Amino acid sequence: MSKNCFTVFLLFSVLIARGQRVLTVQADEKKFEISPTMWGVFFEDINFAADGGLYAEMIKNRSFEFPTPMMGWHEVRSSYQKGRYVVVNRSDGSANEKYLDIIINRADGDYKIINDGFRGIAVRKNEKYAFSILAQSIKGDIKLKLNVLNARGQIIAEAKVPAFQKEWQSYKTSFITSDTTQNGRFQLTFEGSGEINIDMVSLFPYDTWKGRPGGLRKDIVEKIAALKPGFIRFPGGCIVEGKDLANRYQWKNTVGNTVDRRLIMNRWNKEFTNRPAPDYYQSFGLGFFEYFLLAEDLGAAPLPILNCGMACQFNSGEVVALGELDPYIQDALDLIEFANGDISTKWGSLRNQMGHPVKFNLQYLGIGNEQWEPQYIERYAIFEKTLLTKYPYLKIVSGAGPYPQGDYFDYAWKELRKLNPSLIDEHYYKPPAWFFENVNRYDNYPRKGPKVFAGEYAAHSKEGAVPESRNNWESALAEAAFMTGLERNADIVRMCSYAPLLAHVDAWQWRPDLIWFDNLKTMTTPNYLVQKMYSTNRGTHTLSITEDGKNISGQNGLFSSAVADTIEKTIIIKIVNNSSKTQILSVQLKGSPETSGEMQWQTIASDDLSAFNQLNELDKIIVHTSFKKIVKNICDWSVPAYSFTIGKIATK
Ligand code: AHR
Repeated sequence: MSKNCFTVFLLFSVLIARGQRVLTVQADEKKFEISPTMWGVFFEDINFAADGGLYAEMIKNRSFEFPTPMMGWHEVRSSYQKGRYVVVNRSDGSANEKYLDIIINRADGDYKIINDGFRGIAVRKNEKYAFSILAQSIKGDIKLKLNVLNARGQIIAEAKVPAFQKEWQSYKTSFITSDTTQNGRFQLTFEGSGEINIDMVSLFPYDTWKGRPGGLRKDIVEKIAALKPGFIRFPGGCIVEGKDLANRYQWKNTVGNTVDRRLIMNRWNKEFTNRPAPDYYQSFGLGFFEYFLLAEDLGAAPLPILNCGMACQFNSGEVVALGELDPYIQDALDLIEFANGDISTKWGSLRNQMGHPVKFNLQYLGIGNEQWEPQYIERYAIFEKTLLTKYPYLKIVSGAGPYPQGDYFDYAWKELRKLNPSLIDEHYYKPPAWFFENVNRYDNYPRKGPKVFAGEYAAHSKEGAVPESRNNWESALAEAAFMTGLERNADIVRMCSYAPLLAHVDAWQWRPDLIWFDNLKTMTTPNYLVQKMYSTNRGTHTLSITEDGKNISGQNGLFSSAVADTIEKTIIIKIVNNSSKTQILSVQLKGSPETSGEMQWQTIASDDLSAFNQLNELDKIIVHTSFKKIVKNICDWSVPAYSFTIGKIATK
């Protein structure tokens, strides 16, 4: 190197050294134990998350139980004389009162009914699909031909049900598709002449999650599983409350045979006039048994939320009279028995009949969602007393209402502190700036009493669930910064979940959401990547990470937290750079940890804060991984402008 070059090099080094910020991790002092439930998921049946989403059923309104019984269906025939249907209502009070009575007058297969699916029927080439139907032959010799049609109306799959008996029974067949279609339809052609009754027309892919017949969409579950969630909160949200009490979520209507699960209107059907979803109903094919099973599959603690005797206070605000609360409390007691009871008990026996003699190990139960004021506290208190008397081990989750501050919030915390909830659920849907400004929110929370469940949060670039809010990089970065504060306070914050979890690209009501899907594919968002980076780098204990002896929570745009993982033997550092400049860091591990190998750095960065991924453009925001040697427990590293970075080093 020439003399001149050497001088420039020296000067440059000094300049770098001047701009370098020193982050000190106290590696030998474990501060707080981090709950295994720290990062979880919140599943709500919003945005077609269940029917049309996670639940892999492809036929919409399969049992003709929608209030408009032929919604999702239409007839194809050349004249009325050739055939017709009548919707018959048994009017027997059962969950499945309606069925279709079809009369065919001509044997030429000219009478068809078509189902449009959930925003289309989508199939993949060379995959196998399972069809089933309940039917009874009334007269004649009708045969059934089944076809998947692509968007141009061409047949890409065919199967037949050759004959039907006089008694109601289930018929099954399967087919393999010859092509892929995103926007197809499913056609039933009635051949022969006579009369037939049909019900529960169903079509599922064979390739469901764990190959379970009538199961869940594998690609969606895989995305959720990759988060390694510590818990799963279900089934909502406002869905638990219902617009009125008649439309509240009742878990008992969601277990047992699918045909006996009573359909209701999904409360998001009419909620937003800008995003109407008149065909949004809950078949409960995905019900409480399936939620428990999913939690078990994912190794996540199940956290069901039950109605506390109150409908949504943003809607009817209907409450059950205090003296009439018993059936609601009984539902909670019975749910615990369903999950944890011996198979000799009434509800434990139903779990057994459904194929799961082993207990589901329910430890957490939420009472109410976003309720407020005395009517909630009065009802909650009765639930709590009864439940804890019978099940003292139960960790009850109560709620602080819909807002993260203000009168409802303060009142809820004040009153709930006098009771015994294990956790209080806080919700915040706020602009990104709020998340950056509130990173220290939990630093001064009282350490005694209920713990915090950050049960629903998401940075909305526009306040509220308006269509302009996107899953952009700015929102994800704000959440990443805020999460350093959640992590730093892991002694008081024990559970956290982004909300909502799922959204169908053609059928959503609320945006942003963590995972998007169409009928064939799923897409992760920047927010998902952030959640995943936290949840798969959870650690077991917090460590202090400071600059000049202070927490790093916004100085020149930098936010940071650190953890140790005593099981996997690692030290993990999370760093958010919310400034427009690259920041040059010297990360120093104090306390002489015996580190080994190189430090792994995973980074998401984008100068374009408005960038977001789309199904046809998945790579706008992605994670990059690099490695750097650590020398004498010091690792120099630069974090790019507007970035989230995780540094990880193995210890001995
Ligand atoms: O996550 C969407 C909704 O937001 C939830 O149903 C409700 O709890 C909150 O208002």
